[in-house]
Amino acid sequence: MKVISGKARVAGVMGWPVGHSRSPRLHGHWLREHAIDGAYVPLAVSPERLGDAVRGLGALGLRGCNVTVPHKEAVIPLLDRIDATARATGAVNTIVVEADGTLSGSNTDVFGFMENLREGAPDWRPAGTVAVVVGAGGAARAVAWALREAGATEVRVVNRTHDRAARLAADIGGPVHAVAWAEREAVLDGAGLLVNTTTQGMEGQARLDLRLDALPRTAIVNDIVYVPLATPLLADAAARGNPVVDGLGMLLHQARPGFAAWFGAEPTVTPALRRAVLGGT
Ligand code: ATR
Repeated sequence: MKVISGKARVAGVMGWPVGHSRSPRLHGHWLREHAIDGAYVPLAVSPERLGDAVRGLGALGLRGCNVTVPHKEAVIPLLDRIDATARATGAVNTIVVEADGTLSGSNTDVFGFMENLREGAPDWRPAGTVAVVVGAGGAARAVAWALREAGATEVRVVNRTHDRAARLAADIGGPVHAVAWAEREAVLDGAGLLVNTTTQGMEGQARLDLRLDALPRTAIVNDIVYVPLATPLLADAAARGNPVVDGLGMLLHQARPGFAAWFGAEPTVTPALRRAVLGGT
């Protein structure tokens, strides 16, 4: 147990429920590593109290917080400003209480996704890539925006519910377009990157229903799911020789900008951090 002083910097994660969040463990590891006088705490905030809680951040002297399910969209009107990532994705996962007490929101999943790929596939270049994104939820929006910003030539979004994919493509625009769910295997032809953003493959869920036959063997395959680390999709991809990148890194990297803003140190993603986040309670 770390001892904190009366001057400790405090941040946390707002969610409902929040008990499953790995963020306290993640930030706790960095706080210990950097010997920072600070704390990162779970903040169990029900939807009807979100406004009170967000307005209370500054009043309580918190440096800011992460925002998780189900508050990522609802929090936006409560903030003084949001950046381009939050605007494009319609979701905020990081709030910073500025020196003047105003609240700034951003979506660092965009950064986390791209940094995870940079680290896991260092030779891959997003510019000029044709990518296939499976799913059209909040995570897919962050991925599609990141790929658009990084200069992908084409982002093919396939989702079980086509309307959601079409809406995502219309909102993000540029190289992003929706393709019918029935075409999800054919559309792998010519892709340089495949990303699963659905919950399929997660522990306790069915595997993603996707045969990889049409996917070039040079294509990077990335799964947002990280429990288990080796999802059936990644196992299939690795078995046929595709380079694979697991999903844990996105969680770890998305936390870096918040930590830097709240606690004033640039944290790094290390094997020790991965062990700390994956380890038992
Ligand atoms: P998040 O915001 O975390 O990305 P979400 O909004 O719940 O989560 O999105 C979950 C994604 O998994 C969606 O793309 C969903 O598809 P639908 O839009 O059709 O619901 C996808 N998904 C969930 N269960 C699925 C299944 N059995 N087969 C295919 N896709 C599934």
